[in-house]
Amino acid sequence: MSPSYDVPLDLVERPFTDRGSRLLVTAGPDGLRVARAEYETPLDETTELSALVVRDPAGRPLPVRTATPVEVAFEGGVSLLFADPATLVLAGHGASASWRLPDGTGRTLALDGCHVLTGPPGAWSAPAVRAAAEARWTEWFDRMPPVRSDLAERARTAWWTLAVNLLPIAGREGLVPSKYGYVGVWNWDALFHAVALRHASPALAREQILFFLDHQLPDGRLPDVVHDHGVLADTTDLPRADHARLAEHVGSANGSRPTRAPVPVTKPPLAAWAVWKVHETDPDTDFLAAVHPKLVRAHEWWFAASDPDGDGLPEYLHPYSSGLDDSPIWDYGPRAEPPDLNSYLVLEADRLADIAEALGRAAEAAHWRSRAAAHAALLVARRWDGARFTTLAAGAPVPVRTALDLMPLFTGRLPAGVAAALERDLRSPAFWGERPVPTVAFDDPAFDPDAMWRGPVWLNVNYLLVEGLRRSGFPDTAAELRERTLAMVRDAGGLYEYWNPLTGARAARATSGFGWSAALFLDLAAER
Ligand code: GLC
Repeated sequence: MSPSYDVPLDLVERPFTDRGSRLLVTAGPDGLRVARAEYETPLDETTELSALVVRDPAGRPLPVRTATPVEVAFEGGVSLLFADPATLVLAGHGASASWRLPDGTGRTLALDGCHVLTGPPGAWSAPAVRAAAEARWTEWFDRMPPVRSDLAERARTAWWTLAVNLLPIAGREGLVPSKYGYVGVWNWDALFHAVALRHASPALAREQILFFLDHQLPDGRLPDVVHDHGVLADTTDLPRADHARLAEHVGSANGSRPTRAPVPVTKPPLAAWAVWKVHETDPDTDFLAAVHPKLVRAHEWWFAASDPDGDGLPEYLHPYSSGLDDSPIWDYGPRAEPPDLNSYLVLEADRLADIAEALGRAAEAAHWRSRAAAHAALLVARRWDGARFTTLAAGAPVPVRTALDLMPLFTGRLPAGVAAALERDLRSPAFWGERPVPTVAFDDPAFDPDAMWRGPVWLNVNYLLVEGLRRSGFPDTAAELRERTLAMVRDAGGLYEYWNPLTGARAARATSGFGWSAALFLDLAAER
């Protein structure tokens, strides 16, 4: 029987790496490469060694026989293993290994035992290192929630992805979105990660949420990113490359370019939603009591600081705050109010009420419950035009139809006729197909099946819509959307960042090993 951690690593999309390790082993044209995953740094700049080749005594290259979470096994009995998160060892007898250092010089080594390839010097025993790795992975996979058989292979890859994306960051163990390119803890990613981690380790799930509550700013805002060097909570914290990228499209449709004044940067408000999901799996009223005041301050920040026209319906003041950086809604300027934001705020108020109820605070619960009702009523009264919800940019409707237009379903508080119209819209050719839900409607001129947030399917949007459909009384459509989402991920080949909705393949520039795709696929798959 194959071990529970049977996840074949291709060393391209799935590198050899380990929980807590910055080191990634990938295959290059001239051998294996070892590089470090660092915040906003290309792997070319963090390469520790490359062109690693193992040869038999006659000098013939020994190919990689298998790569698993435990080891990269070459022919000839040579293995590459993690002795600890900072140490890769190469073990074998009789063969030799050669590689290149970043300064261009070469190294060779005659293998006779267990040698440190990268990491502090030390004496290791290969059998002990392998046994420890096997035990570590068996223990992790023992905690994987069961899924049905056609989803098992992808689910195992998802479960492995969640483990290897865990890194020590800012004094905690944080799950990074991807060791390829996103090496930090991003706000709403962490909340989605918590949704899956609650099945294995509620403590680790809570830790993801605490990352942001710990770094709450004095005004109540939660930062966008917590990384090795600090936080991203303001446009002044943005990496230089991001300014350039944003400048390419923000305001390009109507000339409303960003101002130079610093703008706060956060992510969509879903923290109370995530706290409650973890609580549902593993009730912990002490945790609820500890986080409730912070969640309240985070909620109030949107009304106090992110509602420039003061109409009670907050806006995103920066594309990153929406989490949909490249969406064509941002072609119409740097400030926007897509219908998801106020939908999330309605649900957050309901969750603040649920938490207060669980803490036995009836008056507070009643306050939040009525806030939720009033906010939902305001959203419908001001933003439902009789046919649809649309994004506003600086007060004017944006002529782009996105999946966010359907997100008021998430509140579960819409008048029946409005909810039914949104569900019809979702089932219409604009948004429905073999692989719903495109982030931009199929029939919209801005639809691009490969470009980030301009058409591809993202699992968080689907996941939130599945919940919204259930909450709004459409269990059958929810079940179908869940099934189509699972089938797309099962059939595509990897846990990508986003998928081309026309072909079901990985979209052109999407990263792989993506945390929330792994997390949300797994959570949907694990449902009974
Ligand atoms: C991209 C996404 C954003 C996400 C971040 C980290 O910037 O647009 O929503 O939080 O990557 O995954």
